Amino acid sequence: MSGWQNEPFGIDVKAGETKAFCMCGLSKNGPYCDGSHKETDKTPEIVTFDEDRTIYACGRQQSSNRPYCDDTHSGQQ
Ligand code: FES
Repeated sequence: MSGWQNEPFGIDVKAGETKAFCMCGLSKNGPYCDGSHKETDKTPEIVTFDEDRTIYACGRQQSSNRPYCDDTHSGQQ
């Protein structure tokens, strides 16, 4: 298995809330950035949400729509 976990992270977000999602894959606190990207040329994806909702962040780091889940995990068990 690659990534942080085999399933997406379901995260309740609030309007106006900003989160930094790891795009380098090195974070020890996935799906969030923990600063580990400093040794790479990657940067986190900073997202400010405009409404209260539940998002699904990719846990396997293989989605083509990161930081969001695109259901890639469904066919890769
Ligand atoms: S730790 Fe991965 S983008 Fe910051």
